[in-house]
Amino acid sequence: MNHDIIETRTGLLGVLIAIVISIAGLVEIVPLFFSSQVTRPAPGITPYPALALEGRDIYIREGCYNCHSQMIRPLRGETERYGHYSLAGESVYDHPFQFGSKRTGPDLARVGGRYTDEWHRVHLMQPRDLVPESNMPAFPWLAKNVVDARVTPDKMRALRRVGVPYTDAEIAAASDAVQGKTELEALIAYLQGLGLAAKGWK
Ligand code: HEC
Repeated sequence: MNHDIIETRTGLLGVLIAIVISIAGLVEIVPLFFSSQVTRPAPGITPYPALALEGRDIYIREGCYNCHSQMIRPLRGETERYGHYSLAGESVYDHPFQFGSKRTGPDLARVGGRYTDEWHRVHLMQPRDLVPESNMPAFPWLAKNVVDARVTPDKMRALRRVGVPYTDAEIAAASDAVQGKTELEALIAYLQGLGLAAKGWK
């Protein structure tokens, strides 16, 4: 009987619709903030070592995520091909996470240890040398560019502010760890660490 109060006022109707819809959203989202499954690291997950951290930034800069996901769904076809499905606790130190949304190439969440460093080097320099039908771009400049070791400690400090537990000792040793390394070496260090912790999961 009072419906016409709402039905004749579009602004009010809009606000009330927004409130009703957001309840459904909150019911899904709010519990995640309190669930240890998504806020604590999964077994074996540790912050990225300095060189891998630099490699991760190159992964983001070069847009690898446009063609590669890092998100294995709990479906048999996926777990048989890639390994254990992705857990939320794997991404607690990822700012931003690299789930990706498109697979032009394979998922990379478990690629660590699947190939040798040398394989990755040749593949990133020219994918078609190893996979003739590949449409992945070549990234030859990575072998020439050297990582800027001066900023690595700052990156780690920034991550510490958002909850990544880097120790003072790790931050102090970071510049030396990446000094003189090429971007190619850093990127390979990152790729080779992906999914190692998941090898022990049942
Ligand atoms: C235009 C899409 C595209 C982009 C961008 C791209 N890739 Fe790929 N990638 C592919 C395709 C397609 C394959 C499968 C064929 C092959 O192995 O080359 C592949 C394969 C790979 C593989 C082997 C995976 C496996 O399990 O066999 C790795 C590792 C890889 N890419 C890393 C990278 C990295 C690192 C970057 C960014 C520097 C990148 N890719 C950018 C399309 C892409």
